[in-house]
Amino acid sequence: MRKLLLIYFFSSLIFSCGENKKNKTINPGVQKKSDDNLSTEIVLNSDDTMKFDKNVILIEAGKLITLTLNHNGKFSKRGMGHNFVLLKADVDVADFALRAAQAYGSEYIPEGNETIAYTKLLGGGESDTIKFEAPKKGFYTFICSFPGHWQLMKGKLIVK
Ligand code: CU
Repeated sequence: MRKLLLIYFFSSLIFSCGENKKNKTINPGVQKKSDDNLSTEIVLNSDDTMKFDKNVILIEAGKLITLTLNHNGKFSKRGMGHNFVLLKADVDVADFALRAAQAYGSEYIPEGNETIAYTKLLGGGESDTIKFEAPKKGFYTFICSFPGHWQLMKGKLIVK
């Protein structure tokens, strides 16, 4: 019992340290409301298993979103690259992903005006933080546009 308590104590200590360091920390927290109440911080994790750790992200319209994508794996971005691509509401995801897979020269972001925001393409151990304004209320799809990833690496951004 005592051992358990100690483990609990140390893990909460580690967790609270992580909370203080912004952005670069790999943080299990989903969303944090900042003090000013106008912005929301989101941390999304990925690794070598071709998955995001969240497939639903809930935000409020009008907020400034700070989103950090972490790639916690070991593989290079050539073999297991990940990005976060938030698509506009009317975009055909399968069609976008097909064109994205061919857009090697632009980190798998095809030409056009179909995205709301996207991160850099990351390899293992890398992170990228982007800021964007939450779009109007509705459902939006986010994917990793690296070839072959989107069917596993996709989720919904819900703006309420
Ligand atoms: Cu990916």
